[in-house]
Formats: sequence, C-alpha cells, structure tokens
Amino acid sequence: MKERLEQIRQKALQQISESETLEKLNEVRVNILGKKGELTDVLKGMKDVAPEDRPKIGQLVNDARAVIESKLEEATKKMERMKREMIMKSEVIDVTLPAQKAQMGHRHPITIAMEELERIFNGMGYEVVEGPEIETDYYNFEALNIPADHPAKDEQDTFYINGEFLLRTQTSGVQVHEMEKGKLPIRMVAPGRVFRSDEVDATHSPSFHQMEGLVIDKKITFADLKGTLQAFAAELFGEDTRVRFRPHHFNFTEPSAEMDISCFKCNGSGCRFCKGTGWIEILGCGMVHPNVLTMSKIDPEEYTGFAFGIGLERIALLKYEIDDMRLLYENDIRFLKQF
Ligand code: DAH
Repeated sequence: MKERLEQIRQKALQQISESETLEKLNEVRVNILGKKGELTDVLKGMKDVAPEDRPKIGQLVNDARAVIESKLEEATKKMERMKREMIMKSEVIDVTLPAQKAQMGHRHPITIAMEELERIFNGMGYEVVEGPEIETDYYNFEALNIPADHPAKDEQDTFYINGEFLLRTQTSGVQVHEMEKGKLPIRMVAPGRVFRSDEVDATHSPSFHQMEGLVIDKKITFADLKGTLQAFAAELFGEDTRVRFRPHHFNFTEPSAEMDISCFKCNGSGCRFCKGTGWIEILGCGMVHPNVLTMSKIDPEEYTGFAFGIGLERIALLKYEIDDMRLLYENDIRFLKQF
C-alpha cells in the first residue's frame, strides 16, 4: 500500500511538471484526485487494511494528497501568469505612434445653397416650413389649379405610387398645406426634395431640390414680388445684380413670370456662362391665382399673394460654377471636399 502511494505521488508530480497547458493540469487533477482517480481508489481499498494500520495509511494518503494539491496549485498559478504575460506581449499598443487624423465632415453644396437661401429669407421675416415628399394628387396638382386632364400634368413626369398617392413633382403643394392651416398672413419658404421620372444627364435628375416661397396678406402686389426677389438676388449674387422678369405660364399663378439675373461672370455683356445672353434664368414666380386661394378657403377679394419656386441644384451649380449636375449626386469625396 505504501509503495503504491509513493508510486502515485511520483507519477503525479512528474505529470504536473510535464504539463504544458492548464487543460493538461486539470486532466492530472481528475486522474489522480478525482472521484474515480487513483488516490481515491486507494482510499476505497482501506477496508482491506488491518484496522490498526488504517490511521497510518489514512495519514499517508492525506499527506500525498496535500503534496499533490499544492504542486497542482503552484503549477496552475505559474501557467496562468505565463498566459497573461503572453497576451500582454501580443497586444502591446505603441503609444508613440502618430494618431490617425479624424476626418472632418462637409456640408453638401446643395445643403449649403439651401441654408444660404433659408438665411436670406429668414432675414426678410419668412418662416421655414416643410411638407411631405409623398403627396396626393390633390396637393400636388388639383389644389394648384392643375385639373385632372390638364397637359401641365404631363410636363412633370410623375412617379405615381398608386391611383391616389405620388412622389411630389414640386414643392408647390406646401403652399396648399400652409394656406389650409387658416393662419394669415403667410410668409414662408419650403425647401425640399422633389421627384420626376427624368433621365439622368448634365441638367436633369429623377430627384432634385426646390425651395418654394409664398406670401399672402392684404394688398400684396406684383411690386412686392419684384422688390422681394430683387433683394434676394442682390443678397445671393452680389449687390450689382440686376433682375428681369419674362412673362411665363404657371397654372397656380396669374400673372406668372420667370426671373433672370444679370450674369455675374460678365455683368451682362455676354459670355460662355450665360450663353452670350448676359442673363441667367433662376426661378419661376407669379401672383397666386384666385382659384388657388379659393380652394384653400382664402377670400381672393380680401387677400392676395405671390409665390416663387427656386431650383436649389441650379443655384448650387451657378454659385460654384459646376457644369454637370451629376457631380452633386455621385458623392465623390474628392469633389465634395472643395466646398
Ligand atoms: N412649381 C414650379 C415648377 O416646379 C416652380 C414655380 C413656379 C413655383 C412659379 C412657384 C411659382 O411657386 O409661383 O416648375
């Protein structure tokens, strides 16, 4: 019995010293000290030992167990320490390396144009409002005096969602939403995305941005429209900017006009930029049609107003002298970084 115990002890100590992983050490623990381990087996054989020898043998087993356990613990601790050191070594961070520079974000040229316009109209007392990009036929067309079978509907190739809903083709519907609120007077601009099923080219995109303007009050005249838009053009393109109004047709305004500004490149003498005309078209405008007022429950005998619609891409292209609209949507960082 004594020899057997000594054998087990030697074997255990040797296995412990040969173990190279924590798993191996645990195997040794189970094989020697576990429920079915060799040392436990010796204890089970105690019944065959003469009663007077039992305390001595018991003592020997306990001694062996204590030695093995303490060696196991020592080895485990050492192994854990080595493991930690290895992890620390493999995960060193060199704090002296130069840091990666954080990239600064940029505002998109369309956003810059939009915010600039908002700033200008804010300064003139206009409120900035927004309307839904998904509209009903009523807000996008009918309430703007464009009836069901009117050819003007075909001019704006519409993305229909179903018979009732569509993607707005213009921000003009926001005029209707504002008038319906029933609060007068109104001085608002409404920037936003609009959609038309146009082929992509240098001047077209199926999704672009407009800013709608609307003023409704008593005694608003075409002179107010001209003065306001002249002041706007001077602020955006420079004090010397002149404007001219050409008669045009929009269903929701009467009379209607398109506004040109004198070319800020050649100051009106004609250049490549203004195609030799000296003028650059920048927006559509007019006096709000009495039908539009009536449909939104505003009495055209008491109130009048003017409206305008500005293409934001056009403003951005002009201001930054970009000659292809597609550049605005490609999100090439090298291009966008310039603004
Ligand atoms: N909604 C027009 C368009 O998309 C632009 C426009 C023209 C808006 C005249 C207006 C306006 O408010 O008075 O072509």
